[in-house]
Amino acid sequence: MKSVVKNKIALITGISGQDGSYLTEYLLKKKYVVHGVVRRSSLIKTDRIDRFFNDKKIYPKKFMLHYGDMNDSSSLQSIILKVRPNEIYNLAAQSHVKVSFEIPEYTANSDALGTMRILEIIRSLGLKTKFYQASTSEMFGKTSKNSKQNENTAFLPRSPYGAAKLYAHWMTIIYRESYNIFACSGILFNHESPLRGKNFVTKKIIDGIRLYIKSGNSFNLGNIYAIRDWGHARDYVEAMWKIMQYKKADDFVIATGNSLSIKQFVNRCLSFNKIKFKWLGKGLKERCIDTSTNSIIIKIDKKQFRPLDVEYLRGDYSKAKKLLNWKPRYTIDDLISDMFKN
Ligand code: NAP
Ligand code: GDD
Repeated sequence: MKSVVKNKIALITGISGQDGSYLTEYLLKKKYVVHGVVRRSSLIKTDRIDRFFNDKKIYPKKFMLHYGDMNDSSSLQSIILKVRPNEIYNLAAQSHVKVSFEIPEYTANSDALGTMRILEIIRSLGLKTKFYQASTSEMFGKTSKNSKQNENTAFLPRSPYGAAKLYAHWMTIIYRESYNIFACSGILFNHESPLRGKNFVTKKIIDGIRLYIKSGNSFNLGNIYAIRDWGHARDYVEAMWKIMQYKKADDFVIATGNSLSIKQFVNRCLSFNKIKFKWLGKGLKERCIDTSTNSIIIKIDKKQFRPLDVEYLRGDYSKAKKLLNWKPRYTIDDLISDMFKN
């Protein structure tokens, strides 16, 4: 007699976000049934996951959405009880660092307490569900320059977002160690893609340069000397899955090990488009000029600065490489090319 192999069931919070979309694609390829939590809004904003809806082979058999909110335990509990997932990927968050200074209470509620709500549901119902937490390099905060951050680096967050995520990160560890729940986390460094939200710096630069090429309009940036370790979201969702499949629940840094300043990222994007440019001036008067036309491409705008910023991030992913056999495939130039072409 043939044994029936049951497809694994995953529940993704934040399924309508950048990572939610790539993770859905990745898990569907692995034959999972994927359920997602979405918030009700007056305008439907499921653009990043519409491709799954529009595929009759996938929707509604292998892909389903449920209304819920990280700030509403009862919705989370009823979804979890209905779906009975083998794995929960907790990607939902107010994920914009600058915005978190404007709405710190909301950010703490959804990013910090929201995570605790799911962990409490798993604990109180005695579920065997595995739990993945989307932790972040923003938790490292005030790093020492030229160092690389790994799983043992001190956390010194510099934003309400970083502090909220740190609470969620510690609660994941506390629930793992107290209640023997498979609760793991990926401490992911910045990762981007064509699906990146428009108000994150890489996407803003790509869209700004596109518009400059089309209509000659300039755009504004803030702190162009901050340094980030940028990878591609496609590589990073694979890491999430690998972290969940590891023999024991643990925490892993996921990064590329390379970093650039925002200004260096701009320079690569301009060169990719064969635009000749130079930077002039200092501080708020600094600007990037197209040397063929003498027009301004980028200006510095005080409004784009944060009350505090994380100045330097560069990750050491050797633990993930050794234990998960994970490494990034996309280089920074592959990422830029993908973001311009798609
Ligand atoms: P994103 O594009 O901003 O997506 C965030 C998702 O969370 C969206 O689906 C959003 O729904 C949902 N969400 C926000 N607040 C919610 C709430 N109260 N209840 C339910 N859903 C809510 O973020 P991302 O770049 O995909 O990142 C995914 C996760 O990884 C986030 O937790 C982020 O903090 C973390 N992270 C990201 C990076 C990175 O570089 N991308 C690095 C480290 C960690 P709507 O569509 O309705 O807004
Ligand atoms: N967004 C934005 N817009 N950032 C700017 C701008 C601008 O006009 N000009 C300069 N920056 C600088 C910011 O001050 C910051 O130092 C850097 O560019 C990166 O900003 P973001 O792209 O907004 O990303 P982030 O590093 O603050 O946060 C992202 O990465 C985290 C992981 O380290 C988000 O995806 C977080 O959710 C994630 O946890």
